[in-house]
Order: sequence, then C-alpha cells, then structure tokens
Amino acid sequence: MSDRKLITAALPYANGPVHIGHLAGVYVPADVYARFQRRLGKDVAFICGSDEHGIPITIRARKEGVAPQDIVDKYHTIIKKSFEDLGISFDYYSRTTSPKHYEVSQDFFLNLYNKGKFIEEVSEQYFDEQAGEFLADRYIVGTCPNCGNENAYGDQCEKCGSTLSPSELINPHSMLSGNIPVLKPTKNWYFPLNEYENFLNKWIIEGHKNDWKTNVYGQVKSWLSEGLKPRAMTRDLNWGVPVPLPDAEGKVLYVWFDAPIGYISFTQEWAEKTGKNWKDYWQNENSELVHFIGKDNIVFHCIIFPSMMKAHGDYILPQNVPAFEFLNLENDKISTSRNWAVWANEYVEEFPGQQDVLRYALLSSAPETKDNNFTWKDFQTKNNSELVGIFGNFINRVAVLTHKYYDGIIPQGNVEAPELAEIRKTAEEIHGFLEKFEFRNALSALMNLARFGNQYLQTEEPWKTIKTDPEKTAATLYVSAQIAVALAQLCEPFMPFSSDKLLKMFAVEKADWSAIEENSSLIGSGHRINEATLLFSKIEDDVIDAQIKKLQDTKANNMKTNTDAEAAKKEITFDDFEKIDLRTATILEAEKVEKADKLLKFKVDTGVDIRTVVSGVAQSFSPEELIGKQVMILLNLAPRKIRGIESQGMFLLTTKPDGKLSFVTPDDPVANGVSIG
Ligand code: 2FM
Ligand code: ZN
Repeated sequence: MSDRKLITAALPYANGPVHIGHLAGVYVPADVYARFQRRLGKDVAFICGSDEHGIPITIRARKEGVAPQDIVDKYHTIIKKSFEDLGISFDYYSRTTSPKHYEVSQDFFLNLYNKGKFIEEVSEQYFDEQAGEFLADRYIVGTCPNCGNENAYGDQCEKCGSTLSPSELINPHSMLSGNIPVLKPTKNWYFPLNEYENFLNKWIIEGHKNDWKTNVYGQVKSWLSEGLKPRAMTRDLNWGVPVPLPDAEGKVLYVWFDAPIGYISFTQEWAEKTGKNWKDYWQNENSELVHFIGKDNIVFHCIIFPSMMKAHGDYILPQNVPAFEFLNLENDKISTSRNWAVWANEYVEEFPGQQDVLRYALLSSAPETKDNNFTWKDFQTKNNSELVGIFGNFINRVAVLTHKYYDGIIPQGNVEAPELAEIRKTAEEIHGFLEKFEFRNALSALMNLARFGNQYLQTEEPWKTIKTDPEKTAATLYVSAQIAVALAQLCEPFMPFSSDKLLKMFAVEKADWSAIEENSSLIGSGHRINEATLLFSKIEDDVIDAQIKKLQDTKANNMKTNTDAEAAKKEITFDDFEKIDLRTATILEAEKVEKADKLLKFKVDTGVDIRTVVSGVAQSFSPEELIGKQVMILLNLAPRKIRGIESQGMFLLTTKPDGKLSFVTPDDPVANGVSIG
C-alpha cells in the first residue's frame, strides 16, 4: 500500500452548471474517497478542473451567440463555486484554458511525436466553403439513414440513437452556413491504439480482473475483443490547444487528448503553488492513481489515456478506475437540453446550509452498479426519517442529557464497556467498504452506528436510572458520548459540514481513522462540551412540492406547442377540403433557375402526368440530391409563371428550426399519384 494517493475526478465540460447526476456519479464519491484517504494519513492530491475545449463548448457558444471563451468563463466560475459550496475538497481546481495546460499538453504531444508514436494521415473531411472551416461531425446535420430523422448529426442520430459518420448522412448540411459541405483533404495525426492491445490485455484483462468493478472491466473487455483502431488525436478546428507543429495551422489537439492531460498539468500548477514535487504523484511507483468518472468516460480513461501514458513511458497507470452508472431524476433521464435536472447551484441557493442532506441523499442512492433514481420524495424521507429521526436525534439526546445531568461535562464511565466495540467495528467496516468503492454500504455502516446508539439509550433509559441508579446513568452517558463523537468523526468524509459542527459541539479535534479503529475512548471523562446545535431539520411537504412543481413546469414547457406558430386559419368545410387534389409524386429532374438563387425547376412524375414545377428550395437543397425523392404535391393549383417558366403544381414543404426547408414525404415509398387526405 502506498502512502500517496493521486485522485482525479472527470473534468466537467464548462458548457453548463453541474447537476445531481454529475455529483452522485463522480464528485461526491470522489470527495468521500479523498477525505477518507486524508483521514488515513495518506498524502493526497485530489485534482480536477473545467474541460473547456471540445464541441459541446462551441455549440453552446453558437446557441447563445457569444464566443467560446465567454461560455467557459461563465460556467467555470459557476461550477467551481458549486463544488466549493458543496464541500468537494479538491486540492486544486483549474481549467484547460490555462497557459500551463497548453504548455503541458503540447509537450506531451511533442514527446509522442518525436518518438514516432503517431501516424500522419491525409483524409477527406467535410469542409464548409462559405465559412472557410472544416466541420466537426456535430456540425453536420442531415437525414438519418436508419430512421429518416432529418436533424441527425454527423456522429449520432438522437432520435433512433444510432452512431453515424458524416458520410452516412443523407443530404448533409453544414450547421454553420446551411450549405452543402464539400470533401477536402486534410492531414491529421492518429494514435495507433491497435498497437496497445497487448499491453491493455495484459494490464487490465489479466491484471485487474478481480479488483476493478465489473461494469468497468466488462466494458474494457468488450472494446478490446472488438479490436482497436487508430484514432485521430488532432482536429481541424479553431477552438482548442494548437497542434505544436509547423505544418499544423488551424489544427488543435483532440479534446480527449488534451483533457486527461489536464490532470497532469493541474497537478503541476498545484505543486508550483504549494512547493510540492508533481513527479512524486505522477512518476513514482509509490503513488496510486485513481480516476473517478461516469460510465461514458470508461474508454477514455481505461484505453486511450493509459495507452498515451504507456507511449510516453514516464507515467504511472491508474490503480483503479471506479466508474459509476447514471442517475435518473424522477424516473426520467437527466438532460441538460431539456432542463431535466436538479442543478447544484440552484440547490445551494434553495436549500441554504443543507449541503450534507444532498450529499447524503445522493450517496445513499449512488448509481454504483446500475443506473439509479433520485426523487424528491425520497430525498425528503432520507432527511426526515434518517438524518433528523436517527442521526440527529441520537446526538441531540446525548448532548441535551449531558448538559441536563452533568452541566455539559462528560461523566465517569467504563473505558472497557462492551458497547464500545461497535465503534471500532463501524470504523473498520467503513474502511473496508471505501477501499472497495462501496459508498452506499459505507454510509449504511455509519447510519447503523447511529441506530445502535438510539437503541442503546432506549434500553438503558438514563432518564429513569438518574433517580434510581445515578452511576448507571453516568456509565450510559459516557458510552453514548463515545458513540456520538465517533459519529462526528466518522461522518466527515460523507457529511463534512455536519462533522465540523459536531466536532465543535463536542469540543474535540479531528482524529486519525486508525485511532478510531483501535481505541474507542474518543472523549474523556471531565471533558466539557458546548451547547447543542441543531444539525438537521425537518423538510416540510410544501418545500418538496415546490421542487416537484418546478420539474412539472419544466416538463409542461418542453411539451408546450410551439409558441412561435402562426394563429390557426379560418375554418373551411369538408367540401372545400375535397377540392384540394394532393398527391404523391417523384422528382425526375431538378436544375437551377438561371439568375434566381432561390429557385429550382423540377420535372415531376405525378402518377397522372409528368409536369414542371418551380419551387423556392434552392437554398436548402442542391438539385442533385433531390432527384428520385418522393414528395407531396398540390396538383390542381392554377398554373403560375415564375421567371418565365410555367409552374404546374406546388410541393408541400415545411421549415426546420434552422430555417431550412424540408419536404413533406410519405413514411414509406408509395406509388405516384396516390391521393392524400
Ligand atoms: O464527459 C465529460 O464531461 C468530459 N468533459 C470528461 C473529461 S474527463 C478527462 F479526461 F478530462
Ligand atoms: Zn436515426
């Protein structure tokens, strides 16, 4: 066992505040672990920072009409403050736009480059000629080949969930200009992950079968069994860490190359500020590295980053990567875009002084081995029945009775009392569970000690024996005080704010964990305690109802019909409707109309005849891509001359959120000339 622990928590993207899903799945467990390791006397570096590069940031910036730097400045500040408010005890919290990070990640890249660890490859990438930029997969939208969703992204269709590549999209369009992107050759640097398969198999599949969580081990195994491929570590983008090579103008490091290096650069920043040696943590076999992450980050932390470190050669590998599953909210997937979340910054404002309640509720339903669910009702029960009813109640009784009978001075008692063994047992249990990353079990062990305390008071009834057998009362309250102080000590990793209050209340210092495991005399006879302060208070129904109402409003808002829609038109009769001849048809030919940048001229097979239609869709489609497309046409509209061409019908079209037009088409191909109605 090493004395040094390097603990990292996944760098949150600075494109929005953090929510309870992030907290339950990464930051609160990581913090419990870091605090616990400090209590064991380990030399801990707990490192994190904002992930400020990558497409999520630039997309958010575009959406808000500001620069990426404005976005990361705003959310870095919000995220950092939320972590502080919730007692997440990072030794250092930085950001990937820091100059040190640029330097360290560029050095890392150059180190691998100089060792010949990359493959240079020219490939054809989509380029937006109007914007003058290569397009990240997320910036290309088109029709999903699997489900027909017209707003699928170049990397994924959010409707059917399939993974895509931009070349698979039908009618690809640039999100920047709306134009059709062209393929253009560009050079990038690829990291041949396939060359690291043997190393990964040996290190993880053979070496960590028994000590890594099954969800993590299983995912790595399945990736490896499918075989790894070289992966581009650079991108043609203007937001990120510039590629430090002379022929790499306009290229940046892939965000998943630079972000994990952030763990290293932030440790260096921290070491510079505190006079430590960062290499003791990263380049020394006596240091143990643990990455806390969500399950969507497994491949990056177990396959890509370790292979990068292996290629570099100077770094230690993680001893464990305890990845968590996801937390749902009120049985629905947490979603930033749908605003379906409990935001950390809002919680802190709406529940002042109740940070530990959230920490407790999230830890007790932490998604350790499978996805889990957070409900406000459950949160209320955990507070009212467990924190107020069991934990707070016990401590309050002990403090009140000690003041009442002994003026706040711990009475004489038996330091060998058998009940004290329960304290040592609890400390050992929590220790064992936390070393295995079993946070829920550790928390249960803590609560069981409070339950034990309550039970003990109930059985001994010091309020009765004070009249009949005062010595017994003293013995009971001596033991109870030991249990109360043990709770104050042992709850610190989980509920640091309450621990602080309790230690002050009992006027004792924080003790080493091992001292509690070995010796249950935690507060001596004759020690004076302070006035009892309220630890937890009941959360009333109206507070919970207000939170539930907030979520219901969000849901209603998400479902609300489009408020920008035009008002409904004047009513018509069925006979009026019958006059309209709507049919299915297929486009046979399409061409541009000269000197009219909005118009295309079509030859259409309507099933009844072949006719000419002129339509204003040129800014949404190129003529070629429409040939063969099945459309819907209004057949009996009086012909109109447009730019000298007689248009003999009208297509049914709609407008997409980006302002582009889209054809109304049948779900499945049908014959031409079939009536619609
Ligand atoms: O998934 C995410 O939110 C990423 N920003 C995590 C990065 S972790 C690390 F590698 F930097
Ligand atoms: Zn799809």
